[in-house]
Amino acid sequence: MIKKETIDKIFDTARIEEVVGDFVPLKKRGVNLLGLCPFHNEKTPSFNVNPARNIFKCFGCGKGGTAVNFIMEHEHCTYPDALRYLAKKYSIEIEEEAPSPEETILRDEKESMLVLNAFAQKHFSENLFDHEEGKAIGYSYFKERGFSADIIKKFQLGYSLNEWDAFSEAALSNGFKKEYLLKTGLSFQKENASSSNKTEGLLDRFRGRVMFPVHNLSGRVIAFGGRILKKDDKAAKYVNSPESEVYHKSNVLYGIYFAKNSIVKHDTCFLVEGYTDVISLHQHEIENVVASAGTSLTVEQIRLIRRYTSNITILYDGDPAGIKASMRGIDLILEEGLNVKVVFFPDGDDPDSFSKKHGSSEVHEFIRNNAKDFVVFKTSLLLDEVKNDPVRKAGLIREIVETIAKIPDQLIRATYVKHCSSLMDISEQILLTELNKIRKAQLKKEMPADDIEELIPEVLKADRQAELESIDSQEREIIRLLLNFGNHDLHFYEEIPGTEHSEKPQTIHSTVKASLFMVEEIERDHIHFENKIYAQTFHEISDAVKNSGEFDLKSFLLSHNPEVSGLAVELMSPKYLLSDNWETMHNIVVPKEEATLRDSVEKSVYHLKNKHVMKMLRDNQKKISDAYSNKEEYNHLIEHHRELEEVKMKISKVLGIDVLK
Ligand code: CTP
Ligand code: MN
Repeated sequence: MIKKETIDKIFDTARIEEVVGDFVPLKKRGVNLLGLCPFHNEKTPSFNVNPARNIFKCFGCGKGGTAVNFIMEHEHCTYPDALRYLAKKYSIEIEEEAPSPEETILRDEKESMLVLNAFAQKHFSENLFDHEEGKAIGYSYFKERGFSADIIKKFQLGYSLNEWDAFSEAALSNGFKKEYLLKTGLSFQKENASSSNKTEGLLDRFRGRVMFPVHNLSGRVIAFGGRILKKDDKAAKYVNSPESEVYHKSNVLYGIYFAKNSIVKHDTCFLVEGYTDVISLHQHEIENVVASAGTSLTVEQIRLIRRYTSNITILYDGDPAGIKASMRGIDLILEEGLNVKVVFFPDGDDPDSFSKKHGSSEVHEFIRNNAKDFVVFKTSLLLDEVKNDPVRKAGLIREIVETIAKIPDQLIRATYVKHCSSLMDISEQILLTELNKIRKAQLKKEMPADDIEELIPEVLKADRQAELESIDSQEREIIRLLLNFGNHDLHFYEEIPGTEHSEKPQTIHSTVKASLFMVEEIERDHIHFENKIYAQTFHEISDAVKNSGEFDLKSFLLSHNPEVSGLAVELMSPKYLLSDNWETMHNIVVPKEEATLRDSVEKSVYHLKNKHVMKMLRDNQKKISDAYSNKEEYNHLIEHHRELEEVKMKISKVLGIDVLK
């Protein structure tokens, strides 16, 4: 854990324009800086850097935040990693908080396992390059497969000697503990081993195999796959490291460390089956490629890819029949909101063998020309199968629509419906009807059966939705005013009539902080914010204001909760940037919000109150209609109704709303 003081120091030191400037050329535009957004494609710059507030904001794609947010987004790294990056840039020494004993043990344990894996990787590589057996068997195997020395080194390939305990012995004699040899699975314990045995009964998991280290996102070795060299029906083709504290198979993609930059650059990730496919494609200058390596694709793996791109192209070695079996997995990708394409290699070739037969440019071209949209592919494949059988065709429609229904984005769904309708020669309307049925069924499944939402007729639902939305925008306006002007003073002038002795009437001037005014007004009426982020922000402001009369804007902009900082950045960025000399050049006076602040503040508070009173009225009305048999309760509710009506009148007066409307 990085100490809070260090984090604060990093936030205080890092200049947004310098941090962004390392990646994006910026031009001065008024008090701000402007550049082309690195997070989406654009030709005219809408990426703003605000040095005064030390934040950035893109008006094109909406991304915004602090220097730390920028690094996280740009470098695809975690929060602590971004802090470390900035600390390095500004030569700030990182002070770490002492972790808890449990954390220390776990961290030390993981670290020990990683150090041991690094040792193992070196050991296996040395076998490959320097050991007689390794050179003769391992290295020549890779050469035969066409792997260059460079690529072997890049992927840190190796060889495990064909002996029972060569590696275990080397590790133990280098001071590595037996405990970690077992935990990483590099060794296992032979039962009833004699204690005099030099390796204390440890045997090597990997023997006589070529070794593929598996790297995590930061390039450290977390596991190994060992491939057998000869064809042997009795032995498994691959032996892999077991699950461990550092290796959770379902979260890992082979090659991700070497691929991540290229995935971002090409905005596509190629997905292949095996270690050798990844390596071969790299040798052919295709680097945006990862492998699920022996598991069927998991949600975690898909989300890992989604950090870098939303486009996956699956490179299949199978025939179309083979892909049918894995269609469920592909539906999973669609469900996660990514786009999927598939490419088939002909004649039983896989990406590895295909790229060996053809040159780099041919491989590139083949993928480009043969990538088929998955939904379209699935449709034509199944269509081919059912041919002219109308009964089976009906089943097919359902299957296709089920796939489309998984796509979260409505526009993309609509596009597919169009496309498939023409492919299948079926009216769009039929597909849409089917689609809606399936989506309704899906929604029902996700919601508890007794959820009253289901009982509310559509029209009322829409009404309620509109109401919630308008409360939301009212709440948002309050937070916006609080953040931007909360520390400003509101001025109140009160007329005191003259006394009997005919003194002139007096005007008393008082000021109050806008934040205090709003907090008191809202809390007095026990109004709670519906939106959680707004509520949290409001409470923090309220606490600060009550404690010290002011609040520190920075604590929101720099909040470690990205939703809070995101909101603060969003609400503090001017929607339209006027150039500095706008007024002088065009003789247009831009009214500053400060000038009309008291009015805006009062209005915003009363608008929110108004919404709440309306809601209370409606709720009360419903209770009244339910309570007709209970006279006492009924009278009580009617009384409450009158009170609410009165409040509503008062609010309307302040707001100048015509209550009869
Ligand atoms: N795999 C595995 N265990 C096996 C077989 C396969 O873990 N017994 C995993 C490996 O990650 C392998 C991938 O599944 O890379 C794909 O399997 P396969 O195509 O059989 O292996 P390749 O690595 O492609 O090896 P080769 O090209 O030599 O056939
Ligand atoms: Mn293969």
